Amino acid sequence: MNKYFDFAASTPVSDEVLVAMTPWEKQNFANPSASHQAAVDATDAIQLAREKIADEIGAMPSEIVFTSGASESNNLAIKGIAFNHLDKKGHIITTSIEHKCVLNACSFLETLGFEITYVSPNSDGVIESSLVKKAIRENTILISIHHINNELGTIQPIEEFGAIAFEHDIPFHTDAAQSFCKVEIDVDDMDIDMLSLSGHKIYGPKGIGALYIRDARDSELVPLIHGGGQEHGLRGGTSPTPLIVGLGAAVENFPTEKSLKQQKFEIDILDYEFTRNGGSDLLETTWNITFSSDKEAKRFFAINQWLVSQGSACNAMSNTPSHVLTSIGLDENEARRTYRISFPPYENK
Ligand SMILES: Cc1ncc(COP(=O)(O)O)c(C=O)c1O
Repeated sequence: MNKYFDFAASTPVSDEVLVAMTPWEKQNFANPSASHQAAVDATDAIQLAREKIADEIGAMPSEIVFTSGASESNNLAIKGIAFNHLDKKGHIITTSIEHKCVLNACSFLETLGFEITYVSPNSDGVIESSLVKKAIRENTILISIHHINNELGTIQPIEEFGAIAFEHDIPFHTDAAQSFCKVEIDVDDMDIDMLSLSGHKIYGPKGIGALYIRDARDSELVPLIHGGGQEHGLRGGTSPTPLIVGLGAAVENFPTEKSLKQQKFEIDILDYEFTRNGGSDLLETTWNITFSSDKEAKRFFAINQWLVSQGSACNAMSNTPSHVLTSIGLDENEARRTYRISFPPYENK
């Protein structure tokens, strides 16, 4: 996989994560909800992981609810709020460049009678907070805007969205799948009420993520999965100890060094004609590049036969330009010459 430069789509599990997870796969496989010692040990290990994740974002361990990943966390945050307003419905503010799991959750809610405003970005991919403020209505029940765009790497001014939401007493949710561990997050300073994160973007396992929920024990979220009361009753299902321990280990061992391949790329790319999309406040490891011509793109990939993404991995199967690229004003021709090259994640703080 030394040609793999699609780390924004997924990362491998690191050695540290694998070592941390292994004992919980076989030696102690107890259901953490049981009452014997093996279950207590598993619960302790889960609690330790919860503390590491909470610490990373300035939250309390009791405010972390484990899910299967950011898609589920986003669905729980958005539908969980909406299902609490099924009688009168209500209005939700999001953007046109969210991940498809947010956009599809919102369009599902539209079929139930909820109203959604999709704020468009400027040509740099930045969501302007003045537009978010302008979109607020009497019946707005939620603002949900991602932190870092998965296709562009653009860092959104979420502290401004948080402040606006706080001022209007509207819950603010952010999809931090691309930012968690990579940029500084403090849920109090940024007025974040809910935050989605995912394990497989940070060298953790696939199939695990979490939703931070402010004061989760008193949350008014309606669960999507009813079960045996796990996760304060907000997400039923036997807690997957190995995956949760793996997520905790991923947070603890998150790397800080830029890869040598990225350092070389940053020099080599200057020999090509291209535009880097996404404005000036960018995650260093995500490069969204429009080459000046098909020929220029071919020249780059003839030398660098890399596995990269056109649009996002989720769009790769449809042959249409991604909704993010069209939202920032690229035409079909430009989108065809546009690639997301994403390097191994490292701490960008
Ligand atoms: C911004 C964003 N949100 C949500 C997701 C979905 O995350 P998961 O694969 O953990 O469900 C991704 C990953 O593709 C993402 O980049």
